[in-house]
Amino acid sequence: DRGAKRASADSDETSNKKTKMDGKANPYLAHMYEEENGWGSGEPSPNSPLAGMKRRQTSAQEASKAEDSDSNPFTGRQHSQKYFQILQTRRDLPVHKQRQEFLDKYHSTQILVFVGETGSGKTTQIPQYVVYDELPHLNGKLIACTQPRRVAAMSVAQRVADEMDVTLGEEVGYSIRFEDKTTPKTMLKYMTDGMLLREAMHDHEMSRYSCIILDEAHERTLATDILMALLKQIAERRPDLKIIIMSATLDAQKFQKYFNDAPLLAVPGRTHPVEIFYTPEPERDYVEAAIRTVLQIHASEPEGDILLFLTGEDEIEDACRKIGLEAEELTREMDAGPLAIYPLYGTLPPHQQQRIFDKAPGPLRKGGQPGRKCIVSTNIAETSLTIDGIVYVVDPGFSKQKIYNPESESSHSWFRPSQRPLRSSVLAFKKELIEQTYPEILRSNLANTVLELKKLGVEDLVHFDLMDPPAPETMMRALEELNYLACLDDDGELTTLGGLASEFPLDPALAVMLISSPEFYCSNEILSITSLLSVPQIFVRPASSRKRADEMKALFAHPDGDHLTLLNAYHAYKGQETSDPSSAKQWCHEHFLSYRHLSSADSVRAQLKRIMETHGLDLISTPFEDKNYYTNIRRAMLAGFFMQVAMKESSGKVYRTVKDEQAVLIHPSTVLRTEYDWVLYNEFVLTSKQYIRTCTGIRPEWLLEIAPVYFDMDTLEDGDIKRSLARAAEKKRRKEAMKKASR
Ligand code: CDP
Ligand code: MG
Repeated sequence: DRGAKRASADSDETSNKKTKMDGKANPYLAHMYEEENGWGSGEPSPNSPLAGMKRRQTSAQEASKAEDSDSNPFTGRQHSQKYFQILQTRRDLPVHKQRQEFLDKYHSTQILVFVGETGSGKTTQIPQYVVYDELPHLNGKLIACTQPRRVAAMSVAQRVADEMDVTLGEEVGYSIRFEDKTTPKTMLKYMTDGMLLREAMHDHEMSRYSCIILDEAHERTLATDILMALLKQIAERRPDLKIIIMSATLDAQKFQKYFNDAPLLAVPGRTHPVEIFYTPEPERDYVEAAIRTVLQIHASEPEGDILLFLTGEDEIEDACRKIGLEAEELTREMDAGPLAIYPLYGTLPPHQQQRIFDKAPGPLRKGGQPGRKCIVSTNIAETSLTIDGIVYVVDPGFSKQKIYNPESESSHSWFRPSQRPLRSSVLAFKKELIEQTYPEILRSNLANTVLELKKLGVEDLVHFDLMDPPAPETMMRALEELNYLACLDDDGELTTLGGLASEFPLDPALAVMLISSPEFYCSNEILSITSLLSVPQIFVRPASSRKRADEMKALFAHPDGDHLTLLNAYHAYKGQETSDPSSAKQWCHEHFLSYRHLSSADSVRAQLKRIMETHGLDLISTPFEDKNYYTNIRRAMLAGFFMQVAMKESSGKVYRTVKDEQAVLIHPSTVLRTEYDWVLYNEFVLTSKQYIRTCTGIRPEWLLEIAPVYFDMDTLEDGDIKRSLARAAEKKRRKEAMKKASR
């Protein structure tokens, strides 16, 4: 039952304790060690399972012996039964055979490139091999392993905590944006590459770490690319720092070459033959087609688990429900085996994500058909997770990928056929598809990155040694945008505002909006809106009850736009939560609001609020009775988003964006009721048409007041936009003159 499943996930998420790590090294560990053992030399005590092991001189045999020991060398507790069971399976992984070879190479070099096929044990094992060699509990330095995706960071940390027989968040933890699950005890930290980058802003030497492992380097995310360039520099200044670049592709020479011919270690994997079956015709309703394919496999193909790729949370939950219902029927009527179905997407809590590794169910009765599991996932899992037992992959061939084209607009989130084979339903057997990905740095808006690099102390962006430097125009455009936002001055130097903006884990425009909001007397409200924009959509719209969902949304609708509607819904939720917390979940369900996303918005809000307080930004509101309550909020939004505005063309419903002069329509999901000539938007969406989404109506005269440099009448080109602004300016002048005269 979907409701029940949701409910348990929710309670778990809210009970997650969040801990913070502040200091640089990890003095706590060394200190603890001294106290317990009266031994301060940084060497294991004689009665520890690690006795005699010397940091960076250990052998695979010594490590295995310590792992076999009854007591856990890092916690002092007895190893559990489960630990020894997992240890067995770990030793069957391909990397295990090469543990000694790995250590030899690791000892002999500062930077190592490690290549192994998906499933060979890189992500889970290599960091542990490093732990048993670095003995981080003795010198207080951490080992970091970066992941491009939050879901991988969380689920792998959980898995490795289990493998090491420790509590998640203690010796093994994770850190992702808006959630830091580590303690001062943490020695091994899985984290998103973006988080490590943020940390580097305050610790340019990454001095907390003795070893940094960049995993999934072949994915070439923006953050990983920048980390590689930074680490290349830091490695020269910090000879004690070890770096491992891990990749699942054989295209390792590029990494080797980039890191001054770093040595390579390659682990042969298990290869599976891949057969791909295409549907003859492109499928119109690809979800339906995919569901049919899954059921067909379940009913008639030999044993093996199924992985189905879809694009979004709602689509996935919906498909899970449908497959579940139909599979039950197959079991009843055709004697098919039981089918266990698991959803997988980024916002699912870690313990639920971990369920995808559960064993498939057995036959219902003796001699019956064997069961199987079906995982319905966003493509986040594709390169980051290995799930044993998957034999069938159903891939409709669409993925959501952010594409940036410097010639046109800011980041678009759109559907496009992925590099996977076909647009229609594809049924691939024994999938072992590893794809080369186009580096993100070449397809992104770099404003955020440039700001980060400035904060990271990179002065010379042009000569920053990136593996694939972006086009100069993209870089220039980012610099220009940051200059308009007043984050960089005309010489390209970081301004006070820019420095402050980079303290927030937000896009520069959002950060500037938040920082400016006290001037508009509505920082409390802008803080809420920013948090709501930082989580997935809170309005739920299941395919089966769209009408009802829309009616519910209408209850919160504000005629001036989507941001205020989000705020209304959030306030209503908070009111409900305060008056009767036990019914909040049910209330959300009835109002087609996502309780989970609203709760995460709450926690994001709390964290952003702390940053604001730290930097002395006032938290204030205009009284709700004041007629300017909503106007102030709309104006405050412009302080960050003045570049994301569009003006209505003289005829019809088409708007034109100011920045790139793109013709766009307002997305049908918007609640904007008043016909505004000018709107501010948050997203540019490209489907069959170009849309702007999450819109709020604004007045052109505000643009002249709030962003006079960007909307400079002297430099604006002649055209509709200039004419509209000139009229607004004229109107304003007349109004003011009248006011003066009447005084
Ligand atoms: O990184 P790589 O693809 O080389 O392999 P891995 O992620 O370290 O996976 C090694 C083994 O651990 C596989 O057999 C996975 O099924 C298992 N694993 C798991 O049980 N739970 C996880 N959260 C991640 C991996
Ligand atoms: Mg991996």
